[in-house]
Amino acid sequence: MSKGQKLLNWVDERFPLSSTLKEHVTDYYAPKNFNFWYFFGSLALLVLVIQIVTGIFLTMNYKPDANLAFLSVEYIMRDVPGGWIIRYMHSTGASMFFVVVYLHMFRGLIYGSYKQPRELVWVFGSLIFLVLMAEAFMGYLLPWGQMSFWGAQVIVNLFGSIPVIGPDLSVWIRGDYVVSDATLNRFFALHVIAVPLVLLALVVAHLVALHEVGSNNPDGIEIKKNKDPKTGHPVDGIPFHPYYTVKDVLGVAVFLIVFSAIVFFLPEMGGYFLEHPNFDPADPLKTPPHIAPVWYFTPFYAILRAIPSFFGTQVWGVLGMGAGVVVIALLPWLDKSPVKSIRYRGPKFKFMLVLFIIAFIGLGILGALPATNTRTVLSQILTVVYFAFFFGMPFYTKNDVGTVPVPDRVTESTPARQIRFLVLFAVTIVGAALFAMFV
Ligand code: HEM
Repeated sequence: MSKGQKLLNWVDERFPLSSTLKEHVTDYYAPKNFNFWYFFGSLALLVLVIQIVTGIFLTMNYKPDANLAFLSVEYIMRDVPGGWIIRYMHSTGASMFFVVVYLHMFRGLIYGSYKQPRELVWVFGSLIFLVLMAEAFMGYLLPWGQMSFWGAQVIVNLFGSIPVIGPDLSVWIRGDYVVSDATLNRFFALHVIAVPLVLLALVVAHLVALHEVGSNNPDGIEIKKNKDPKTGHPVDGIPFHPYYTVKDVLGVAVFLIVFSAIVFFLPEMGGYFLEHPNFDPADPLKTPPHIAPVWYFTPFYAILRAIPSFFGTQVWGVLGMGAGVVVIALLPWLDKSPVKSIRYRGPKFKFMLVLFIIAFIGLGILGALPATNTRTVLSQILTVVYFAFFFGMPFYTKNDVGTVPVPDRVTESTPARQIRFLVLFAVTIVGAALFAMFV
């Protein structure tokens, strides 16, 4: 027996190392038809690691003090060796986290991955999404620029519109009557340790739940139902390692090329990843002409602005925005379709999905722009479409199946499917660009 084997045996007698690796990696059978959309789970893990590691290094030179915070970020950017790259990796990582997570969630939507038996995988995912938003919101205050300050001011003020407890609640969140040093200190504590701990625990729960039931796939077939009697493994499954570790390395390589290109050449992304007013230090006496949240919040911000105040309170908009996030977690119970994957769904779901994509991207664009009458009406229409997608689901998904029946075994992707995907992708990008130009 080699020395390495002896050491491994010694560890295994005291800690379930080999058996855990076997259960979750080398002997974890995943469906053999994973496609492009299955890159984003592992990429979300990668971005999580990038954020934690770069965050630790930023904390070494950042000062959570209203008089020093802005200057300490400038110091990191100009004087700390390698500080600029760490900071740009962290700010780019924040936006890329949402890019990856939105695509990851979209995959769940098109393949019905939230449906039975993966309801808890989805619920943990939805909680991750909520916590990620809180993490990003608090992190954005830390550079103490104009948009950090005024963005936080606007969002925390929203809590003030809640009847009875609102005004006290917003003071409690800020620790002061306005966003101040006390707010910066507590947001720092929450952003650096409390929320990341919750996030990590939720990611572990997400993956444990997934491995308990096994992964879904682009055909939406339960591969565990068809096992080889000799080996006991699913006939449509392949071991996660080496097959998917190698596939995921490809995804990581492509992602890192894109990520590096942004960090080195486009770190502000035209003001979408780092907003221009945030290059000015926070000034409580000077409100910027247009306050907009970072792009990943804008669909929900547009819902907030679209809902008018009734009975003299703004709380409906706040409730609408909250409902827009919470409703995502309810998908497993709203979707009554007998099939999971879009490949075998009927025309009604496909039609509603297209409307949903238009509504979500449209709201995202409108939420980034200053409000005008036309934009408000458009946001109201798109808000109705957004909620109709969810709340109409129990009705339009019932018995809505396509002409192709769900096969017994997983299928290969066909060139026709790939071309259709590329065309839809191009139409979405061009459509969004045209909408942004004319609205
Ligand atoms: C930090 C954020 C997240 C991380 C690190 C993460 C990680 C992962 C990983 C590694 C997988 C397995 C690989 C894959 O199927 O792509 C997975 C699967 C899944 N995730 Fe996430 N996830 C995150 C957020 C979310 C969110 C926000 C949702 C939905 C609201 C979600 C829903 C799902 C679902 C439904 C699956 C199973 C998909 C299937 O089997 O088809 N995840 N996640």
